[in-house]
Amino acid sequence: MSGPNTSYDPVEVAALDPAAIDAAVEQALAAAAAASTLEELKAARGAHQGDKSPLALANREIGALPPSAKAEAGKRVGGARGRVGQAFAARQAELEAERDERILVEERLDMTVVPPRRPLGARHPISLTIERIEEIFTGLGWEIAEGPEVEAEWFNFDSLNFGPDHPARAMQDTFFLQPADAGLVMRTHTSPVQSRAMLERQLPLFIACPGKVFRTDDLDATHTPVFHQIEGLAVAEGLTMANLKGTLDRFAAELFGPGVTTRLRPSFFPFTEPSAEMDFKCPICLGQDSGCRVCGGTGWIEWGGCGMVNRNVLAAAGIDPDRYTGFAFGMGIERAVMLRHGVADMFDIVEGDVRFSQQFGMEI
Ligand code: DAH
Repeated sequence: MSGPNTSYDPVEVAALDPAAIDAAVEQALAAAAAASTLEELKAARGAHQGDKSPLALANREIGALPPSAKAEAGKRVGGARGRVGQAFAARQAELEAERDERILVEERLDMTVVPPRRPLGARHPISLTIERIEEIFTGLGWEIAEGPEVEAEWFNFDSLNFGPDHPARAMQDTFFLQPADAGLVMRTHTSPVQSRAMLERQLPLFIACPGKVFRTDDLDATHTPVFHQIEGLAVAEGLTMANLKGTLDRFAAELFGPGVTTRLRPSFFPFTEPSAEMDFKCPICLGQDSGCRVCGGTGWIEWGGCGMVNRNVLAAAGIDPDRYTGFAFGMGIERAVMLRHGVADMFDIVEGDVRFSQQFGMEI
């Protein structure tokens, strides 16, 4: 490497040529002035102040100059870089001030704006009715019982005196769970809770069990494949059909108001003997509309079944049927909601539209 060239003339070195430096300064100042955003200014600064900018190159050339020439070249280049630096700093300050002002305007808080309200949900009338029913029965001193929705076929049918080939097994349109030999079904009614309660609890026994039940029905104005029932069971010494009737009347009056018309019809259930069907007068047409979609024009809505607990059912739960008697009932809760609130269409109940539920929000 050769030493410094003593005869080196700074004016001859292209990068240090005063005209070239002035031109570089002018371009830099123009670029700073032209930058209209902080991003553009940053890019311009890279081009005119960065390592590869003409002024940085010129600065680097100074080192190779003979000592006598360094001072003047250093002054020239340093002055040029100083001016460029100031221009960029000044433009930077301007652009930052503009940005801050814009942010102040754009992000201004309008304290008068009404905040968007998150719409409140609403409790479904089925839940509210179940709660009301629970209150009615706990008010009578009964207990609330629960059972599983996936139920052993034995509890759902056998324990309730349905024989293995009993047509009711097919009549109840059962969802059987796989594998077929698991003996599991989606419970078709809340009645299996009767057997569970008799096995688990002490006598005398007074329980109400609300819950979901499942059948392979199609959805229409009065049917849905998943619906709710309330099951009642009383087992004690000396209970008769009169106790059943009194309980049902009290239940109906509490739920629907005094004077609700009901009727009992002789019926058959494997787990009760005698058995009865209980109907309510259709609240939608009051029996006046032969085309009524809710009652099918009959004027009556089937509300549920009831009866005196069959001796075989008591015996299957280890209860002495000669000493104890019981009565039981099971009703559809969807029908109760239709009756209480004049809902004409099951679709409204199952759809889950909050605008439907909101109408029941104030129910207590
Ligand atoms: N489990 C019956 C059904 O779903 C209803 C029923 C009838 C329940 C008579 C009872 C009863 O407890 O005694 O159709």
